[in-house]
Amino acid sequence: MKEPKQMSVSAIQNGTVIDHVPANNLFKVIQILGLDRIENQITFGTNLESKKLGRKAIIKISGLFFEDEDINRIALVAPDAKLNIIKDYEVVEKKVVEVPDNIIGIAKCMNPKCITNFESVTTRFRVVSKKNVALKCHYCEKITNQENLHII
Ligand code: CTP
Ligand code: ZN
Repeated sequence: MKEPKQMSVSAIQNGTVIDHVPANNLFKVIQILGLDRIENQITFGTNLESKKLGRKAIIKISGLFFEDEDINRIALVAPDAKLNIIKDYEVVEKKVVEVPDNIIGIAKCMNPKCITNFESVTTRFRVVSKKNVALKCHYCEKITNQENLHII
């Protein structure tokens, strides 16, 4: 009999597996997707070995399938994430995340004088560079880049 490939987190029957999440951003991904507020079964593993990322995390959410628009919100913190859509224990689709054109309410504007930093206004940015992330604030027009990117 063929040895089954060892899995660090059990297989799921139906749902979404988000693989290749940088271990240090696992909880940001959980927060961005609102996984702390749903009742689906969720299992995750972190600090798993990955050739590409050093240490990666994996999240398995049973019974939940995301819209592309929602899943792409994690691109800022998990640009190499791979999505696996599981139906009846089989991987039926694989997807990658894509940085969206607009970012609403995830990142903080780096400009301390920006209105979003002293009034309760949801941040809005236009993505001016996707590769080395650069976000242009809709309110103050200042650029927030990867180095000064803070997730709200
Ligand atoms: N998986 C799962 N439940 C299943 C099937 C798969 O949790 N019923 C998980 C696997 O553990 C793996 C991911 O979904 O983390 C992708 O599965 P698969 O394509 O079989 O694995 P790999 O070939 O290792 O995927 P890749 O190289 O594309 O990352
Ligand atoms: Zn601003």
